[in-house]
Amino acid sequence: MKKGLFITFEGIEGCGKSTQAKLLKNYFEKKGIDAILTLEPGGTKIGQRIREILVNPEFKGILHPITEALLYQADRNQHLKEKIIPHLEKNFVVISDRYQYSTVAYQCFGRNLDCSKIEWIFKNVVNGIEPDIVFLIDIDVETSLNRVNKRAENEKIELSRFELEHVNFHKRVRDGFLKLAKEKENFFVLNGKQSIEEIHKKIASIVEEKLSV
Ligand SMILES: Nc1ncnc2c1ncn2[C@@H]1O[C@H](COP(=O)(O)OP(=O)(O)O)[C@@H](O)[C@H]1O
Ligand SMILES: [Mg+2]
Repeated sequence: MKKGLFITFEGIEGCGKSTQAKLLKNYFEKKGIDAILTLEPGGTKIGQRIREILVNPEFKGILHPITEALLYQADRNQHLKEKIIPHLEKNFVVISDRYQYSTVAYQCFGRNLDCSKIEWIFKNVVNGIEPDIVFLIDIDVETSLNRVNKRAENEKIELSRFELEHVNFHKRVRDGFLKLAKEKENFFVLNGKQSIEEIHKKIASIVEEKLSV
């Protein structure tokens, strides 16, 4: 049975998920609370192999949207069973850089995929393991794409298959996330244009409140 706190970060490319997830992991470390930082896709060895397919720019326009959605489910299933659930059972805080809401935003909204046909697979994979807190870092698409281009330039890395998508794709994904945030009680929307420190402070105060209940 789930015991630990499950926290996930969502948002479009470059909104600041990885930056904030790392800061939150350090926050728990300083408090002496056991926590792991993990990610999707690629939180397990098998998931890393799946991730290679998903982010590979070579497959842009080839990877079918349903294949894409199913690969995400395969990654998530392995991640949950091998890593997330065992750590929650041991009372760890599990911080995941992306989780199932990314599939809804990217595949269902971004790709305009009729997810009702494969929703039963999503439900079986997640099997009731919902995050206690979802931090949605919201940012406009222009800022997002500027950041990922700069990051790729600085780190001398190729843009991923998703980072290469059209502006309108990213707009649909952003709108999808915001729609989910309106429907779900576990969502906290943060303004990604604030400073890294300001956003972290907000996150810490929300977590603090959750820990005190
Ligand atoms: N609040 C912020 N303000 C300005 N730049 C930021 C902020 N948060 C992150 N960044 C920078 O933007 C880039 C993308 O951040 P990152 O955390 O990798 O985003 P994501 O994981 O959501 O793709 C990085 O170069 C990071 O240093
Ligand atoms: Mg990241």
